Formats: sequence, C-alpha cells, structure tokens
Amino acid sequence: MQLLDGKATAMQIREELAQAVKQRKQDGKKIPHLAAILVGNDGGSITYVNAKVKACEEIGFESTLIRYDDSVPEEILLGKVHSLNEDKSIDGFIVQLPLPAHIDELKITQAIDPKKDVDGFHPTNLGNMILNIPGFVSATPAGIVELIARNGIDTEGKNCVIIGRSNIVGTPLSILLGRNANPGNCTVTLAHSKTENLAEICSKADILIAAIGQPGFVTAEMVKEGAVVIDVGTTRVDDASKPKGWKLVGDVNFEEVAPKTSFISPVPGGVGPMTIASLMMNTLKAMELKGK
Ligand code: GUN
Repeated sequence: MQLLDGKATAMQIREELAQAVKQRKQDGKKIPHLAAILVGNDGGSITYVNAKVKACEEIGFESTLIRYDDSVPEEILLGKVHSLNEDKSIDGFIVQLPLPAHIDELKITQAIDPKKDVDGFHPTNLGNMILNIPGFVSATPAGIVELIARNGIDTEGKNCVIIGRSNIVGTPLSILLGRNANPGNCTVTLAHSKTENLAEICSKADILIAAIGQPGFVTAEMVKEGAVVIDVGTTRVDDASKPKGWKLVGDVNFEEVAPKTSFISPVPGGVGPMTIASLMMNTLKAMELKGK
C-alpha cells in the first residue's frame, strides 16, 4: 500500500506557483488576486476559506476575504458578485458553499463572470469542461485528477466507481475520468443513494472514489485487492482528545481498507490540500486566460 500524500503533492504545486509569482514580479506583470466571499459562521466553511486565504499569502498571491452575516439578503450578495465581476483588480473569486437556505445558490453561481469563476461552478465552465474547451474545472475534481497524475497512477481502461453525484465533486469527476485524456479513459460508474448492489459494484472497482460525506462508509469488503482508493469525505467528528475538540473523518474506513489497496488517500492530508492547490492553479490560470 502506498499513501497518496495530497499534502506533499500540494506543497510541490504551491512551490511551482510561488516560482511563477516570483517570475511575474520580475517581469513586471500583475500578481494574481483571489477574493473569497464567506456567509455565516459555519465552522467547516470558515476553516476552508481561511486555508484558501493562507495559501494565497504563502504563494504570494493577493487575497481579499469578504464576510457577511447569515442573514444577508440575496440582493446584497448578488450586488457584491456583480461588483467583483467589474473589479479589475480581482482576477478570480469564489463564494463559499453552502449558503443559507434563503439564498438561491444557483442564482449566485450563475451571476459570477465565467472568466473569474475559479471554482468552475458556472454552467459555462461546466459545459467547457465537458467539451474539453479551456476554462475552469472545479477545484476538488481537478485536484483529484492532479493527484492521480502526479503519482503516476494508470487510469486507461480501468473500472472507476465514484460514490456520490454532487455538482461539485462526483458529477464533474465522472466526466473528467471518462473522457479521452490522461488521466482519463476510465469506464466510469457514478453511484449514488439509489444505487442497487452498491457494495458489489464497488468491489469490482480498480479505482474507487468516495464523495458522500458519511464517515467510514467504505469498508474492506467493498474494496478489490490492489484497488486505488480516494477519499473525498471531510466530516467533523467530536474528539475531546484533539486541541480543537474535533477531528476530520473521511468516507473510507482507512484502518481496514488500506491493507487491501495499492494506493489510498488519507483524511486529512489527501484530497483537501489538493483542492486548495487546484484553486490556486485556477487563479493563476484566470490571469493567463486573459492574456495578462
Ligand atoms: N464548499 C465545499 N467545497 C467547496 C469548494 O470547492 N468551493 C466553494 N466555493 N464552496 C465549497
């Protein structure tokens, strides 16, 4: 079993980006500037957004964090999205999801200028991804593909099962791994809550990706000997022994599954750091696509 060390792979990418920033400075070019909108006080969202801002600082990008109270009216948020679309100093921005129930997430993501949509959530970017047109691929699926590529995992002709069909992870990932590319060329099964015989389907996967947010859902009998297992789950679970009083737990029962695998990503330190690294890559790309 080999660990898919997302933390180490992400550090490598961050160093490459820091070099790119240094070069841009030397060439007198603009430094990428990422803005993030955070609504409310959800602990997970605060942690993720803070990590994104910190990554910008470490790489040398500029960043702006915009925070709103849970009760912010939809029109105010939409107004902010429009002003960021127009703001020439901002190269890309994200609206951290989930948003409070009174705000229509689709309306907000559709209001973002696709050229600044570094999360790749806008329908234009999702369409571009399907057609293999340059644009932004959402950070988590892009990070998983990068993790696979940089660890030399062969995907061609492999049987890949993805559990979870979210718009952010499972659905775009099924497109990326099924298309004619490297990584790619998998035979993809997109499994979900209505899938029958899930354990049996999973047990035939060469590459098994769990993205459902249910701690420990994937157990040893669901995994084929020698499979590649990628865990996208990040659920906070109370743990009094930890300084923060909680720990992050993945969708895979790591202890029992790991010995059967050829590669497995841990939680934390697997897909999470790759998501942030991908967002940073997209922010640099936002400038390059504009020819800046
Ligand atoms: N919520 C969970 N993952 C993400 C992400 O990648 N981007 C945003 N904006 N919100 C999220």
